[in-house]
Amino acid sequence: MTLYRATAFDTPGSLTPTGVSLRAEEDAGILVEDGVITARGGFDGVAASHPGHDVVDLRPGILLPGFVDTHVHFPQVRVIGALGMPLLEWLDRCALPEEARLADTGYAQQVAGEFVRGLASSGTTTALVFGSHFATAVDALFTEADRVGLRVTAGLVVSDRSLPEGLLSTPERTYDEALALSRRWHGRGRSRYAVTPRFSYSASDDLLDACASVLKDAPGTLFTSHVNENPAEVAAVARLFADAQDYVDTYDRHGLVGPGTVLAHNVHATDRELSLLASQGASVAHCPTSNSALGSGLFPLRRHVEHGVHVALGSDVGAGTGFSLLKEGLQAYFMQQLLGADGLALTAPDLLHLATRAGALALGVGEQVGDLEVGRQFDAVWVRPRADEPLDVGLRHAASAEDALAKVFALGTPTDVAGVWVGGDRVSTR
Ligand code: GUN
Ligand code: ZN
Repeated sequence: MTLYRATAFDTPGSLTPTGVSLRAEEDAGILVEDGVITARGGFDGVAASHPGHDVVDLRPGILLPGFVDTHVHFPQVRVIGALGMPLLEWLDRCALPEEARLADTGYAQQVAGEFVRGLASSGTTTALVFGSHFATAVDALFTEADRVGLRVTAGLVVSDRSLPEGLLSTPERTYDEALALSRRWHGRGRSRYAVTPRFSYSASDDLLDACASVLKDAPGTLFTSHVNENPAEVAAVARLFADAQDYVDTYDRHGLVGPGTVLAHNVHATDRELSLLASQGASVAHCPTSNSALGSGLFPLRRHVEHGVHVALGSDVGAGTGFSLLKEGLQAYFMQQLLGADGLALTAPDLLHLATRAGALALGVGEQVGDLEVGRQFDAVWVRPRADEPLDVGLRHAASAEDALAKVFALGTPTDVAGVWVGGDRVSTR
């Protein structure tokens, strides 16, 4: 049993048009037994009623719930930072040639090490990961995530048209390989499986049917893909699926849109699509640095929230510009500011919620993680800047807890992450 002493911030509520409230405890005591938070309150009170435990003092600094990244690509670590291209050109010239290299298992193992370290060192404790087109590479990813101890949900990325030959599969092979991987990894330790067609642009109806069969035969697995990211992509999907009502329908008519569905981007959504996503309980992964870098567009967060669509944050590495959900939160804030009256003015607690609790709910693990409530797993990030770094100066002069949190989003980087825990285990970030 361990008693953590910290300034702790979390956001147990939900995002509404009127915002989220921050729970900020200046001197909290958080008691952790077998990885689970069993008591919390003011430190003196918890220490008095639970004497004799090891105390881990995490002051100064701020303890936050572990970040939840709901959309990030494993094979794209080495191509982060390519600028100046829209989606389809970036895929052709940058992402897909790199993804083809993961056919080599040794290469994939090296990338898996870099990828998992990238997540952990940024404070991401739970992630929904776009895997690789190669089953051996997906094994390498799960093996590394399991070794380090992160909560990773991932799957074999599948496509059967529109991509370079080496990345294509067939509906039959998709079913066999995905089912075998899900049997090996879904529910093993902290790993779970997600059925992952790349996007409708690279999928036939038969492939999407095979995906539906895997979902049915591997109960409890998630479904993830991309949707409505870029106008040229949306137009191409409309041509390929001339009988579909819209982009979301290309998935929905195969039964692929439900509470376990997370669709990335949805920048160019129609009202019909938003209503459908809301009624099916599906979630959208908003990836603001990616949308900005690729010029995909300004995410209509207000329309999502008003329709009742659940939204969380994704880094979308490698179109996104890094693993830090602090950076994604800040960019989400910028984007809503730029939308003016059409935007949803986000507060610092909203950003924390999007980076933590909202992600946990999107991935169906809201009972286990997402805040620092009694009963949750102790998944936490200790933000503690080095003395006299800009964030340290900012925190020392913060006017309030909300102001301190805004400074964490404005100034925080992975170098300010001093400790990361998953299920009470301190994970290596180096
Ligand atoms: N759509 C299909 N594949 C990708 C990808 O790798 N990144 C992004 N941002 N969009 C995609
Ligand atoms: Zn993506």
